[in-house]
Amino acid sequence: MQKEYEGIINQARAEHNLGREGIEKLLSCDGQALDFLFAAADQVRRTFMGDAVHLRGLIEFSNYCESNCAYCGLRESHKTLPRYRLDAAEILAIAGAAVPLGYKTVVLQSGEDSYYSAEMIAEITCRLKEELSLAVTLSLGERAEEDYRLWRDAGADRYLLKHETADAELYSSLHPDMAWENRKKCLYTLRELGYQVGSGCMVGLPGQTLTSLAADLLFLKELDVEMAGIGPFIPNPNTPLAKAQRGTVELTLKMIAIARLLMPQTHLPATTALGSVDSKGRQKALVAGANVVMPNITPNKYRRLYEIYPNKICLDDNPAHCRNCIGGIISSLGRTVAEGAGHSPKEQFTLGLG
Ligand code: 5AD
Ligand code: SF4
Ligand code: FES
Repeated sequence: MQKEYEGIINQARAEHNLGREGIEKLLSCDGQALDFLFAAADQVRRTFMGDAVHLRGLIEFSNYCESNCAYCGLRESHKTLPRYRLDAAEILAIAGAAVPLGYKTVVLQSGEDSYYSAEMIAEITCRLKEELSLAVTLSLGERAEEDYRLWRDAGADRYLLKHETADAELYSSLHPDMAWENRKKCLYTLRELGYQVGSGCMVGLPGQTLTSLAADLLFLKELDVEMAGIGPFIPNPNTPLAKAQRGTVELTLKMIAIARLLMPQTHLPATTALGSVDSKGRQKALVAGANVVMPNITPNKYRRLYEIYPNKICLDDNPAHCRNCIGGIISSLGRTVAEGAGHSPKEQFTLGLG
C-alpha cells in the first residue's frame, strides 16, 4: 500500500482532523489503501460508539412538498404523484405500534409542507414524549426560528436537516427555491436551540467534485453535528436529473469512513439509499464506520408514495418485518441492537438524559 495513504489515515485516526487536500486524497484511494481506510473507520466506531447499533423508526407522515429540489421525486412539480398527509391520531398510532417492536426513537419526516402548523407539530411531539416516552426527531425542512423553538420547548430532542451539498454553486443550481445561506442559518439556529442536530449530504450529484465532497465533510465537522446522513444520489425519472449518473457505493462508503475518522462521536446511519442501490449496502456501511439504521415504520399503503428515488427498499414490507430483517442484519455482523434512546454520546446531551 502506498505509504502516503497509510500516513494520512493514521493521522486522521489519531487526531480526528484532516484538511481539504487530505480528504480529497483519501476520497481517491483504492485497493489496499481503501481496505485500510474502512478498517480504521470501523475501529474508531468501535472505540467511540461501541458495537451497539441504534434504530430510529422513520415515519414519512406527508409527501406534500412546496419545494422543487432537482433530484427529488416529491418535488412540487411532480404533479402526477398522489399526495397524502397523516393526522395526529395516525402518527400516534404508528409510533405506538413501534414501541413493542423495541423502538425508542421516532423520526417524523415530511416534505416542505406548511399545512402542518407549528402548534400541530408541537402537540404531536408532546404526546409522543408523554404518552409513549419516545425520543423525538423532527425532519420537516426549513422553518421559522419560532417554529423550531416551539418544538424544542415541546420536547423535540433532535432535528434532521440535510445540507445536501456544501458546494454553494451546486446547491443553488439544484435548489431553485432555496438558498444555501438560509440552509446554514437554519442549521445554526437548531444548534443554538439545543437540538441534537443531524445533517448530511448526497454523494455523486451531477457536477459534484471531490473538492465539493471534502467541503461536505468539513462543513459537518465545523457544525459539529450529532448525526450525519450520507447516501448516494439516485436519479429519479420524474425529475430534471432523470438522465444523470447515480452515485457509487464505493464513494459513499469512503465518505462515511472519513466522516467517522473526523467525527468519532457522531451518529452515522447506514442509509436506506445505500441499501437501495446495493442489497448489502447497509451491511457494508456498518463495517465502514456507521452505527445507526433507520428502518421505515410508515404503513405500507403510503410507502410507495414517498418515492424520493426509484427502487427504494422495503416498499412491500411491514414495520414488524423490517424490524426483524434489521435485527438479523445486525446480529449477522456480530453487533447488537442498542437498548437506550440513542442520544448523542457528547457530554452536553448525556447529562441527565439517561
Ligand atoms: N437520491 C438520493 N437521495 C435523495 N434525497 C432526495 N432525493 C434523492 C435522490 N434522488 C434525499 C435528500 C433529502 C432526503 C429526504 O432524501 O438528501 O434530504
Ligand atoms: Fe421537498 Fe425535501 Fe424532496 Fe426537496 S428533498 S423536494 S424539500 S421532499
Ligand atoms: Fe425492510 Fe429489510 S429493512 S425488509
